[in-house]
Amino acid sequence: MSVSEDRAISFQRICRDHTPVLLEIEQEAYPDPWTPGMFGQEIVGPNSHFYVAERAGEIIGYAGFWLLLQEAHVTKVTVARPYRGQGLGITLMEYITGRAVELGANTMRLEVRASNTTAQRLYRSLNFVEAGVRKNYYARAGEDALVMVRDLSVV
Ligand SMILES: CC(C)(COP(=O)(O)OP(=O)(O)OC[C@H]1O[C@@H](n2cnc3c(N)ncnc32)[C@H](O)[C@@H]1OP(=O)(O)O)[C@@H](O)C(=O)NCCC(=O)NCCS
Repeated sequence: MSVSEDRAISFQRICRDHTPVLLEIEQEAYPDPWTPGMFGQEIVGPNSHFYVAERAGEIIGYAGFWLLLQEAHVTKVTVARPYRGQGLGITLMEYITGRAVELGANTMRLEVRASNTTAQRLYRSLNFVEAGVRKNYYARAGEDALVMVRDLSVV
């Protein structure tokens, strides 16, 4: 295998086999990690489009959205900690954006913690704009969510 093949990122739809690793990554990445049942919903949900990214046989991140009419609502974007700061967050977002556009979405929407400035910078760099605040959206942490929206009709 060449070095370039070794560095290549492949995406596949989430399946049950991925869940144990995703649950581990969740514990580190979020104060309110998803449960096995929540990942289960992404596997079977008719509107769910959820993908796992692998490099050299290892899961490096995952991202997904629900397609509701022509709006793609991002449910997750996570890069496993050892792989952050290499542009993979952008790679994941670009992949799900491409899938959403192929499926007919004209808008992408997400919620992000008010304190998560790294994620907000990432979204702004991809032309997301702030569309409002949901007060106390993350009730466990008592934190607001910023709502961010991207117009996909110009992608
Ligand atoms: C938010 C998250 C997905 C970003 O993923 P990431 O792969 O680290 O993102 P990127 O590498 O694309 O960008 C992150 C930072 O690395 C920098 N970066 C990108 N490529 C780089 C490179 N080659 N060398 C050095 N730095 C780089 C970016 O400029 C950015 O810096 P900034 O925050 O100071 O602007 C990741 O931090 C994560 O999974 N966090 C935990 C879960 C989470 O909060 N998810 C979002 C929920 S809304």
